[in-house]
Amino acid sequence: MALALPNPLPSSLLLLLLMMACSTSAQTYRNQSLGSSLTAQDGGSSWASPSGDFSFGFQRIGNGGYLLAIWFSQIPEKTIVWAANRNNLVPRGSKVELTTDGQFVLNDPEGKEIWRANITRSGVAYAAMLDSGNLVLATQNSVYLWESFNLPTDTILPTNTIGRLGKLVARYSETNYSNGRFQFSLKSDGNLVLQTRDVILDTANSEYWSSETAGSGFQVVFNESGSIYVAAVNGSIKMISSNAVSMQDFYQRAILEYDGVFRHYVYPRRLNISNSTSSPLAWTPLSPFIPSNICTDTSERIGSGACGFNSYCQLGDNQRPRCLCPEGYAYIDPDDVWKGCKANFIQQSCNESLPEKDLFYLHTMLETNWPESDYEHSEGQTEDWCRNACLGDCFCAAAIYADDGVCWKKKFPLSNGRKDPKQGGKALIKIRKDDSTFKPSDADSKKKDRSTLILIGSVLLSSSVFFNILLLLAAFLAVFRFDYFKPKVVQRYPVMPGMNLRSFTYEELKKATDGFKEELGHGAFATVFKGALESDHGKPVAVKKLNNIVTQGDLEFKAEVSAIGRTNHKNLVQLLGFSNEGQHRLIVYEFMSRGSLANFLFGGSRPNWYQRIQIAFGTARGLLYLHEECSTQIIHCDIKPQNILLDDSLTPRISDFGLAKLLKTDQTRTMTGIRGTKGYVAPEWFRNMPVTVKVDVYSFGILLLEIICCRKSFEADVQNEDQMILADWVYDCYKERKLDLLLGNDEEAMSDMKRVERYVMIAIWCIQEDPSLRPTMKKVIQMMEGAVEVPVPPDPSSFNRSI
Ligand SMILES: *[C@@H]1O[C@H](CO)[C@@H](O)[C@H](O)[C@H]1NC(C)=O
Ligand SMILES: *[C@@H]1O[C@H](CO)[C@@H](O)[C@H](O)[C@H]1NC(C)=O
Ligand SMILES: *[C@@H]1O[C@H](CO)[C@@H](O)[C@H](O)[C@H]1NC(C)=O
Ligand SMILES: *[C@@H]1O[C@H](CO)[C@@H](O)[C@H](O)[C@H]1NC(C)=O
Ligand SMILES: *[C@@H]1O[C@H](CO)[C@@H](O)[C@H](O)[C@H]1NC(C)=O
Ligand SMILES: *[C@@H]1O[C@H](CO)[C@@H](O)[C@H](O)[C@H]1NC(C)=O
Ligand SMILES: *[C@@H]1O[C@H](CO)[C@@H](O)[C@H](O)[C@H]1NC(C)=O
Ligand SMILES: *[C@@H]1O[C@H](CO)[C@@H](O)[C@H](O)[C@H]1NC(C)=O
Repeated sequence: MALALPNPLPSSLLLLLLMMACSTSAQTYRNQSLGSSLTAQDGGSSWASPSGDFSFGFQRIGNGGYLLAIWFSQIPEKTIVWAANRNNLVPRGSKVELTTDGQFVLNDPEGKEIWRANITRSGVAYAAMLDSGNLVLATQNSVYLWESFNLPTDTILPTNTIGRLGKLVARYSETNYSNGRFQFSLKSDGNLVLQTRDVILDTANSEYWSSETAGSGFQVVFNESGSIYVAAVNGSIKMISSNAVSMQDFYQRAILEYDGVFRHYVYPRRLNISNSTSSPLAWTPLSPFIPSNICTDTSERIGSGACGFNSYCQLGDNQRPRCLCPEGYAYIDPDDVWKGCKANFIQQSCNESLPEKDLFYLHTMLETNWPESDYEHSEGQTEDWCRNACLGDCFCAAAIYADDGVCWKKKFPLSNGRKDPKQGGKALIKIRKDDSTFKPSDADSKKKDRSTLILIGSVLLSSSVFFNILLLLAAFLAVFRFDYFKPKVVQRYPVMPGMNLRSFTYEELKKATDGFKEELGHGAFATVFKGALESDHGKPVAVKKLNNIVTQGDLEFKAEVSAIGRTNHKNLVQLLGFSNEGQHRLIVYEFMSRGSLANFLFGGSRPNWYQRIQIAFGTARGLLYLHEECSTQIIHCDIKPQNILLDDSLTPRISDFGLAKLLKTDQTRTMTGIRGTKGYVAPEWFRNMPVTVKVDVYSFGILLLEIICCRKSFEADVQNEDQMILADWVYDCYKERKLDLLLGNDEEAMSDMKRVERYVMIAIWCIQEDPSLRPTMKKVIQMMEGAVEVPVPPDPSSFNRSI
């Protein structure tokens, strides 16, 4: 037939025609007598209803096997409305037979019984597929001994009623017909309810919707004009869905879908020639959906809610729920998003001698809640209190902070997650700051010898207690090579790579950078190139070529470089080695994949507020280390966003520290060649005043303002002249109590105004003209943490004016 067509048809249409031809020839419009059977195979025959609207037979489901089913057979979708073996697909060659003794049995090709119709009385004479979509086994007198309508799966059709104890069970997913996560049942008391289910245990959990017909409900009715209601014993009805649908014009079905929502669908029987735009040839859901918002209507103590554990549910534009994972989490199975999410990081340790509070941060999710997972709550608290309480508690997976000052701590697994504008408050979900850059590399640990311990000893004197414990543990393990004993902790903390500073030859570095080919950046004193160390599995490095070096003795250079090399802090870029040959002075650093803070802040869209806060914190900690915690005090002299680099996990790492000394600039006196960058340079550089660590505090203040506002310290291209200098503009806004002007449309920062104000005040203290008024970095950190009050700062330039 196809070959006779004059013109080639699109292959899909051809296929459709062929399919129609096949199924037409296979349909048999008659009663099926005893001994009739159907076999599972592609293009196999089926039993059609007299009108041809429904067919019964085998349908192939993906590659999983065949379903013995009833479907709409006049539409291309062949939508399945009933199945015998939904939990147990059968292979090709399986057979369903109406046996000569009146049994109706499905057997696999080996003859094993898979399913059987439960017929309680003998006397079946024939089977028939009816035009209503009901498959019946009947006696000679057409008394029905078995009906598919009495055992609906997930769908009901018009005229199909559900009696007390009857139910629909949703399928597992759109294409998996197995028993799923939700059910619709008319309970013995006559109440019609929707319930979540435990798929593994095959039991129902809690109810998330009810018809409120307990005591009166008698059956659920879906009539031909499209009304769905619960009929009461006394004849009254409780309407569930009252659309008026014309049976002549539309196919209809009502289904409890795999997402837990009960929907009534219609499909036009034919294209409406008179108005082809009015009804598309597709299943269209009619309102109302039951429940109207499954994300917020499910809330259960046992069970995960509408979506899986640790996920949250949000209604999409089409009113369908979507299951999403919070930041820091990923789907357990990306092909089955209802299974829930898992954390992408190792949980916080509860070992009190290893407090991990600083290794975590809280990510804000507005309008989100996990209402049933709380284990503790506290009233009349500030958001900072709430944050600290959760960060310091290893059981706390997330906190919910409500505007009325209530702080809820949530435990694992998070359940009943939802994001909805009606939620109010905000969720603060705890995520580990990934310290992946601190994994000990194999090469490093192999090189370790006993000298490591001695070297570590010297650094211990100057590092924080917490870090020391970790270092000691790491060194201990590295030296004694407890290969079989690898606690989690060891993999995340340094084994002091910096202590083995390598001396490279110039040739080696030339080769590593491919002849100084790829430039990463350059300044007045140096140019930085990207390279890869062949000797270290092609490890990427940044090679800094000092091009303007003051003639300097060999020993002096080495002493300075090793001073830099002795620094070790997670917020500093680690020095790996150097080269000092003839005129060539080069230093080799670890390579920072995410580039500089300048790119991060000013390169396009405004980055996340809490990530920015973490960066400000990290930078402050790195500076504190340089100023107060490392063996020789280091004044950076050039703090600016270009010198703060970011690693894979967005941890800020200060670079270029120690260069001031290396470049032989006198740090304590005014000098002609100012190291530092316009806009970030403290005023004392220009005056005859000693240069102290407070120059870095000044630059940090400017940097903090840039981080808050995501704007450069100086911008010529602004509408209002008053806004050109960021520090001035910020002080004006602060004075006029209009800090929101600084934030653009930064919703997250806006919802955290108290912190914004505190940080602005800290920054204003940092940029005081009088260096003695500026706080130390230690004080800055205490104020940022909220550990000490921030006093009202004076006008930064008042000192200037008073001179
Ligand atoms: C099916 O069999 C019953 C009883 O024998 C008979 O009444 C009915 O008309 C038959 N239907 C068809 C379509 O043959
Ligand atoms: C359908 O989902 C169930 C439950 O997860 C699973 O056991 C079964 O293998 C799935 N069936 C198919 C055909 O994927
Ligand atoms: C078959 O149906 C009878 C009566 O409805 C019921 O009591 C029995 O439990 C059913 N058997 C099975 C295996 O479902
Ligand atoms: C279906 O139910 C509605 C509401 O009770 C009623 O108005 C309508 O007439 C019924 N339709 C049929 C075909 O019984
Ligand atoms: C039927 O029962 C319901 C509740 O029990 C009641 O509200 C209603 O008035 C009754 N209707 C009739 C017709 O008796
Ligand atoms: C077809 O269109 C006409 C005119 O718009 C409308 O009255 C009728 O209900 C439509 N029928 C179907 C099946 O959509
Ligand atoms: C077709 O239907 C659309 C909206 O459903 C209506 O605006 C338009 O007037 C109709 N056209 C005809 C020819 O009925
Ligand atoms: C806690 O950490 C300390 C220090 O690493 C260790 O000695 C101790 O065994 C740990 N305690 C537990 C219960 O794991």
